[in-house]
Amino acid sequence: TFVVTENCIKCKYTDCVEVCPVDCFHEGPNFLVIDPEECIDCTLCEPECPANAIFAEDDLPADQADFKALNAELTKLWPVITEKQEYPPENKEWDGKPNKLALLER
Ligand code: SF4
Ligand code: F3S
Repeated sequence: TFVVTENCIKCKYTDCVEVCPVDCFHEGPNFLVIDPEECIDCTLCEPECPANAIFAEDDLPADQADFKALNAELTKLWPVITEKQEYPPENKEWDGKPNKLALLER
């Protein structure tokens, strides 16, 4: 499965959702996650993310390992998103900022 990682938080470009053939992205207030039970490993979303926040689970950076469980958990709480949205305010300024996990809204 593919996993959305920390750099999506407050960037939330949503370019990723338009290419997913099985609609497995779910949307929270400032972050998206992938449903691990729906993802078919097509790889299409990974290059679409301007924030480089999407990884195959086998390629997850060590400091992002917790995001695998976080995607599985939050998928159950959040609705599916299939259409790209306007970028959040100042989202490019948040791109690459460290320690954004504390800013995740549920
Ligand atoms: Fe969707 Fe394919 Fe990305 Fe999985 S790898 S989330 S199926 S676009
Ligand atoms: Fe997030 Fe990248 Fe999608 S920033 S919303 S995973 S395009």
